[in-house]
Amino acid sequence: MGSVSLKIGDGTARFKRASVCSSAVNLMMLFSVITTNLFAFYAFTYHPTTITLHQNPKNIAVISEKVSLILKEIESSQKKLAQMEKEILGYESLDLLRPNIANELKEFLNPHRLPLGKDSRTGITEMVASVGHSCEKSVDLLSQFMGYKVYGLCPDDWSLGQKLILQGCEPLPRRRCFAKTVPKVGLQPLPVSLWKNVSEKAFSWSGLGCKSFACLNSKKLNRDCAGCFDIVNGYENQRYVKARSKNDFLMEDVLAMGNGGIRIGFDIGGGSGTFGARMAERNVTVVTVTLNVDAPFNEFIASRGLFPLYLSLDNRFPFYDNVFDLVHVANGLDIEGKPEKLEFLMFDIDRVLRAGGLFWLDNFYCSADDKKRDLTRLIERFGYKKLKWIVGEKANGPGKSEVYLSAVLQKPVRT
Ligand SMILES: *[C@@H]1O[C@H](CO)[C@@H](O)[C@H](O)[C@H]1NC(C)=O
Ligand SMILES: *[C@@H]1O[C@H](CO)[C@@H](O)[C@H](O)[C@H]1NC(C)=O
Repeated sequence: MGSVSLKIGDGTARFKRASVCSSAVNLMMLFSVITTNLFAFYAFTYHPTTITLHQNPKNIAVISEKVSLILKEIESSQKKLAQMEKEILGYESLDLLRPNIANELKEFLNPHRLPLGKDSRTGITEMVASVGHSCEKSVDLLSQFMGYKVYGLCPDDWSLGQKLILQGCEPLPRRRCFAKTVPKVGLQPLPVSLWKNVSEKAFSWSGLGCKSFACLNSKKLNRDCAGCFDIVNGYENQRYVKARSKNDFLMEDVLAMGNGGIRIGFDIGGGSGTFGARMAERNVTVVTVTLNVDAPFNEFIASRGLFPLYLSLDNRFPFYDNVFDLVHVANGLDIEGKPEKLEFLMFDIDRVLRAGGLFWLDNFYCSADDKKRDLTRLIERFGYKKLKWIVGEKANGPGKSEVYLSAVLQKPVRT
């Protein structure tokens, strides 16, 4: 009796560790009780046989040395205990007792015991909420994020949340307030929605430098989005159907390489969603992962009737192994930092792509020769079949040319 089943996310893993820790804590407690008592027993029963205490200061020194050893031992046991307790809570890096922590944050993070005791399917007895442990670095911002009226309207602060995410504080805690809404007027049905302007009033512009699409279109927001919000007149509606250089592959050609087996795809850092739009026209469902850096990318993609995923690339992708027929990435692959960082990302891309599926590297900008070499080496270690591999140069201003790599690779079956 008393069995409940619940979806718990990563609570299971935490709990496993917690139960290992609990027994460790019990052992530690036992150990510290025993050692403390033994030392005390030793200290109080130690009678020097020949010389009494006050007669020899050397012995007093010995005893006080022992006592201070005992005290040190107790202190270190207590420290270890406190550390283990924190680990049991799962927030070893987040000190909920420090001042100025929002009450809502404590409320969210405190473990909640299951009302009917142990869940028979998962073996857990309590639910643990998760936030990214890097939140510790920005705990003041986090407390600000969790400062609101419960059941009230959330502050208009999505950019604060994104700031936290960009500082590694991901996942963010949940909040008990209603997020700001914007009336979504003028949405069109599919497939008209893919290439139709929606009124600027249907987007939230708070926290952004630009307050209009005209402003956004006048800027190069990133390497894959220059004027990418102009889906009616701009270059955007020629992408993937009309090539500007040999590095631009056409959608038809790539889909043909998949022998009709391309049905679902994943686009990494896909700008305003144009890749997903072109795929939708060919009945391929694409999820586009993007943050809202300097522009309302997520809302815009959704307004086109496409699937936006709001997640930073530091996360493991929330998909199971071998599910996608196609992964498309352009300069989203250009992540700063150590080479291992790129490896972790590439391995995760490989994980979600099925055997026989296509990895489309689209106009990746190789800022330096060693960048191209490192990426090429890395890709070769994955053993993909090169269906297309083009290294091209594009002029960028007089006398300056830039090197781009485009490729379509097929994931092998590994045994
Ligand atoms: C659609 O919006 C863009 C700005 O993103 C603008 O330049 C263009 O003129 C609009 N087109 C139509 C047909 O309204
Ligand atoms: C997409 O699906 C619709 C409905 O099944 C079909 O009529 C259309 O031909 C398909 N388009 C492509 C490009 O396969």
